[in-house]
Amino acid sequence: MGVLDVEIVKGYIRMCTDGWLQGWHERNGGNLTYRMKDEEVAACRPFFNAVPGPWVQMGVQAENLAGEYFITTGSGKYFRNVELDPEHSIGIVEINAAGDSWRIVWGLAGGAKPTSEFPSHFMNHSVRKAATGGANRVIYHCHATNVIALTYILPLTDRDFSRALWQSATECPVVFPEGVGVCPWMVPGGAGIAMATSEKMKHYQAAIWAQHGLFVSGPDFDTAFGLAHTIEKSAEIYVKVLSMGGGLIRQTITDDDLRAIARDFGVVLNEDFLD
Ligand code: 13P
Ligand code: ZN
Repeated sequence: MGVLDVEIVKGYIRMCTDGWLQGWHERNGGNLTYRMKDEEVAACRPFFNAVPGPWVQMGVQAENLAGEYFITTGSGKYFRNVELDPEHSIGIVEINAAGDSWRIVWGLAGGAKPTSEFPSHFMNHSVRKAATGGANRVIYHCHATNVIALTYILPLTDRDFSRALWQSATECPVVFPEGVGVCPWMVPGGAGIAMATSEKMKHYQAAIWAQHGLFVSGPDFDTAFGLAHTIEKSAEIYVKVLSMGGGLIRQTITDDDLRAIARDFGVVLNEDFLD
């Protein structure tokens, strides 16, 4: 027995492999964090390192994550390698009582560190934990190709992206009725992109980083991966539609159609994005 035999760790590794197979994780692109349940920490604790690593300050702080444990991908590590070599590719970190530092308790072997986007993940865990009454546990960042492509041609507003995605696949308004947030291009990995994204995630389950990728949240791996998959698929359809028709769209899902979907599926659509 070891950490790798614990079910939640197996689920985490499976999601990394799924993302790699989608083509969203060239080289070390993308990162995944999971906020562990108490019983999952207890199942892993017997296999933690005898001596934890040193505390490392994050440059961001969140009281509601003090004492939590996260599974995280390593900075510079390849999703492609997670399943083959988990000990060097992923790890478990503990957060201190002040909610401003992490230390490694398992994995990230050979001097690896949590993802450079850990500050963004951390602030977004804080916001989504509060917004969902503790239900949210997953934050996932991927370099979804068609989402990135659209950030070169659509206005970088929440409204423009939400409408384009809702109109490009009928079930989108059911999956993310509040829409998606859009952040302008920013330097990756710092406190700035962390704060900008977490402002968006107060209102949305997903945010798009211009010319960079997609950031999604969810209560479990299936829901978070499914959200990323749905958004990227819709973006792919929109890219194809624009490419085929030279920009001409002959017909689309109307605002009244969107309202009809919301009514029949029992979801509340963000009316700010409807005409
Ligand atoms: P990391 O290798 O540090 O996770 O960075 C990859 C990435 O996608 C940065 O946005
Ligand atoms: Zn990235």
